[in-house]
Amino acid sequence: MAKKKLEGAGLRGQVAGHTALSTVGKAGKGLTYRGYAIEELSEKATFEEVAYMLLYGNLPNQSEYDNYSSKLKSYRKLPEELKEVLQRIPGSAHPMDVLRTGCSMLGNLEPEGDFSNQSETADRILAAMPSIITYWYRFSHEGESMETETDHLTIGGQFLSLLTGKEPSEEHARALDVSLILYAEHGFNASTFTARICASTLSDMHSCITGAIGTLRGPLHGGANEAAMGMIEKFSSREEANEGVKRMLANKEKIMGFGHAVYTNEDPRNKIIKAWSKKLGESVGDTLLYEVSEEVEKVMAEEKNLFANTDFYMASAYHYLGIPTQIFTPLFVIGRTSGWAANVMEQRADNTLIRPSEGYIGPDKSDWVDMSDR
Ligand code: COA
Repeated sequence: MAKKKLEGAGLRGQVAGHTALSTVGKAGKGLTYRGYAIEELSEKATFEEVAYMLLYGNLPNQSEYDNYSSKLKSYRKLPEELKEVLQRIPGSAHPMDVLRTGCSMLGNLEPEGDFSNQSETADRILAAMPSIITYWYRFSHEGESMETETDHLTIGGQFLSLLTGKEPSEEHARALDVSLILYAEHGFNASTFTARICASTLSDMHSCITGAIGTLRGPLHGGANEAAMGMIEKFSSREEANEGVKRMLANKEKIMGFGHAVYTNEDPRNKIIKAWSKKLGESVGDTLLYEVSEEVEKVMAEEKNLFANTDFYMASAYHYLGIPTQIFTPLFVIGRTSGWAANVMEQRADNTLIRPSEGYIGPDKSDWVDMSDR
């Protein structure tokens, strides 16, 4: 029998602070960033516009956008000392650990100091993330020490070109851009809450983001896209997927990429990335993974009344973009860094140390026993 959850478990449903950055699953609102619906942002905005809006409070006009893009471009270069550290991390390391170390090392080389330049620090970390992960990946897998500054206007284009060494198509760069928009912000999820707790102690931006990366790594959070890929790639037909998922459910296994702590009927990001996954599969001429995913989604709805969250079709979409599975969650980091940093700044602007109470369930009184008598 499932163990009954104690009152307050996981802080579910409790308001743990206030934010003007996003609404998640609120009746009549769905997912919005500063009031803009995710459906509209993923259709009309670039990731850089969204990041600017989250960090600076408004959608940029043309000159603000041009300046912001140039600034992010100028922040793509990595310090030599950071490159040396990345060169020492083995190719067998998990890329999330690489990002965690990379962000922390950047904090040693470029400490934030007082918070007077906090948005610059945020922009620098955001622009450095794609460089850190692709530099390490190419060095550890191909021995190439590359320059990470490129002329690409968007992070999506830059990332794909650094990762593969080839120019991405417009469609692929845009698909990545959209995925970063979908990942940019999401209320008080576990990693954002980690960043806010860290910020509430008046710690520095690098520590907040480093802690958030560690929290995002787990398969119940950002790691779900990687875990979902691990499952769907095992199936080579709809039939196999149907039987396989039913078997997993019978064995009481969790199916990664399904369910959500806040949404009850659907994850509004799912239909957006699902449409991209279909489109990408068709354009690369291989729709098997998409079809298998659809079958898994159908079985989960029928058997468990559970819906796919954004991580589920993100797996096939990223696969179609030629991205290695272990780099899926690092892409979540790149997108969410904008949201994390915006939350850190929001927390700092009206700070109270986050320190909840605990419900004690230990013994009333323990009697000391000498070591020789234990
Ligand atoms: N596969 C199978 N069963 C699932 C499930 C999944 N993905 N998600 C939830 N359930 C079931 C649980 O087993 C549990 O059943 P029980 O009451 O019989 O024990 C019930 O639904 C409630 O699950 P619980 O984990 O307590 O709900 P939650 O609200 O705390 O969970 C998640 C939210 C996201 C942690 C959970 O749905 C999950 O682990 N999903 C898979 C990981 C994932 O995709 N994470 C990314 C989130 S964006």
